Amino acid sequence: MDYKKQLAKLIALDGFSQGEIESYITPAAEVAFGDFSLPCFRFSKALKKAPNAIASELAASISAKLPDFLKAVGAVGGYLNFTLDRERAAGVALDEVLTKGAAYGESGEGKGKTVCIDYSSINIAKPFHIGHLGTTVIGAALYRIHKKLGYNTVGINHLGDFGTQFGKLIVAYKLWGDKRGIEADGLRALVDIYVRFHKEEETSPALTDEAREWFLKIEKKDPEALELFHFFKDTTMKEVEKTYERLGVTFDSYAGESFYNDKMQPVIDELKAKNLLTVSDGASIVDLTEYGMPPCLILRSDGASLYATRDLATAFYRKNTYNFDKCLYVVAYQQNLHFKQVFKVVELMGHDFYKDMIHVAYGMVSLEDGAMSTRKGNMVYLSDVLDKAKEKSLAIIREKSPDIKDAESIAEAVGVGAVIFSALVNNRIKDNVFSYDKILNFDGETGPYLQYTYARCNSIVEKAGIESKTAPDLSSVAGEEAYAVVKLLTEYPEVLRSAKEAYEPSFVTRYLIDLAQAYNKFYFENRVLDENASVRAARVRLTKAVKLVLKSGFEILGIQAVEHM
Ligand code: ARG
Repeated sequence: MDYKKQLAKLIALDGFSQGEIESYITPAAEVAFGDFSLPCFRFSKALKKAPNAIASELAASISAKLPDFLKAVGAVGGYLNFTLDRERAAGVALDEVLTKGAAYGESGEGKGKTVCIDYSSINIAKPFHIGHLGTTVIGAALYRIHKKLGYNTVGINHLGDFGTQFGKLIVAYKLWGDKRGIEADGLRALVDIYVRFHKEEETSPALTDEAREWFLKIEKKDPEALELFHFFKDTTMKEVEKTYERLGVTFDSYAGESFYNDKMQPVIDELKAKNLLTVSDGASIVDLTEYGMPPCLILRSDGASLYATRDLATAFYRKNTYNFDKCLYVVAYQQNLHFKQVFKVVELMGHDFYKDMIHVAYGMVSLEDGAMSTRKGNMVYLSDVLDKAKEKSLAIIREKSPDIKDAESIAEAVGVGAVIFSALVNNRIKDNVFSYDKILNFDGETGPYLQYTYARCNSIVEKAGIESKTAPDLSSVAGEEAYAVVKLLTEYPEVLRSAKEAYEPSFVTRYLIDLAQAYNKFYFENRVLDENASVRAARVRLTKAVKLVLKSGFEILGIQAVEHM
C-alpha cells in the first residue's frame, strides 16, 4: 500500500501537483504525531497564507470525509499529521509481505538498465588479505541490491594480473621455488618467495634487471614466461575461489589488467589525436594542472603502460561491451586520486559517459594488534580471519548449546557471517578496527545477533505448525511494540532503494538490526503463541514476515540464515 500516494490524493492545493505534494510527505518524526506528516511551510508563499492555517484547513476538510485507512488527521505547528488505522495497516502490510514472499522488496526500476560493478579485484600472487574484505563484500552486496531492483548487473573482478611483479616472481621461482611445494602450499609459498626476492634485491641489484627482462618476456609472449605466469595465476585463483565460495561471492567476468594488454593502443592513439598527450621527462602524460591534480601517467619513459592506462582501456571496453548506464568501482579511498584522474581524462577525451563512472570508496580495516605491510610479509590473510572467526564461533556455540547438531556448519555460517557483517555495518567510508570479540558478541549489533533472531523466528513458526484458519486478531499486532515491527517491515523496499542510491549496503545492515531489535522487544513483551487462536494467528504472521524479510536481507548481504542455533 503506497500511503504517500493515497494521502497526496486527499490534498488539493492551487499550483501544486499531486506528485509534488506526495514528495513532501515524510514519515512522522515522532509516534505522537502519527505515521506521516506534510510540512505546510513551502506552500505558504504561493497561497499567501500562514502554514498553520493551511494545515488546520486541510485537517478539517479531510476529517470531514475520513477515508477508511486513516484513523485521524491533525494540525500541529504548520504540520499536517496523519495517523493510519493501525489494525488495518498491520493487516495490509503483513498480507503484502507474506503474499510477495521472497519477491518482497523487488522492483522494476532497473529494467533495461545495466550496471557494471568492479569489486574485489585482487592481485595475483599476492595475499588476499583483510584489506580486500571491504571491496569484496560491499561490491557483492551492491551487486545483489541492484539485481533485486531489476538492474542488469555485471560483476567484474578486475584482477591485478599484470605488472613488473611477475618478472620478480619468475626470478624468485627459478631461484628458490619448487613446484610441488607451491602446489601443496599454494599462494603462501608464492608470497614467501616474493617476499624473499624483495629482501635479496636490496643487496643484489642484478636481480632487479633480471626481473625486468622476464617481465618483458611475458609481454612478448615468450612460452616459458607465459607458462609460469599462468601457473602463478592458477595457483592464486584456486585458493581465492575457496574464499569467494565461503563468502558467497560470485563474478560474471574475471577480465583483469592483462586482458587489456592489446586494448591500450587505440586509447593512446586517441589521446594523441586529441592533443591531450604531453611528453615530460620522456614519459607520456595527460597534464591535469588546470584541474588541480598531478598528471595522469600514460606511458613510462621506457614505453611501458601504467595502471591508469589499463583503467582507461577498461573503461572504453566496458562501455562498448556492456553499454552500461553506470559503472561502479568499489575500491579503497587510497585510490581516490587515481579514479579522479582516469574519469577526468575520459571527460577531456570528450566522452560523456565519464559521468556514469563512480568510485565507490571505502575505508581501511586494521586489526586490534596493529597494521600490516605488504612486502615484509606480515599480511593478515582473509582466509585466516574466516578460519579464526569460525573456530571462535564453534567454541561459543558448543558452550551455549552443547547438544546442537551440525555445530561445525553453524559455526562456519556464524563466523563468516560475523566477518561479513563487520564490513557492512558502518558507512563504507569509515575506517574500522576489527575485533573478534566485538563481531562475535551475540547480544551486540552483530551478525550472530541477527542470525540468532532469525533462528528464534524460525522456531516460533515451527512450533506454531500449519497456519490456522482462524482470522487474525489485528489488534494484537497494532500495539506499540508490534506496530513498530510492522512499520519497519513496510520500509524494506525503500531501504533497498536508498541503499542503491547512496551505494551504501550499510543501510540494509542497519535496517536489519533495527528490525531484529524491534522484533525482540515485541517478543519479550508479548506472547506470540497465545492461547487465543486469533491473537496467535496474527502474531505468528508477524513473526513469519520478520523471518522472511530477515532472510531477504541476509541474501543481500551474503549472510547465511541458520534455521536452528
Ligand atoms: N587490484 C587493485 C588493488 O588491489 C584494485 C583494482 C580496482 N579496479 C580497477 N579497475 N582499478 O589495488
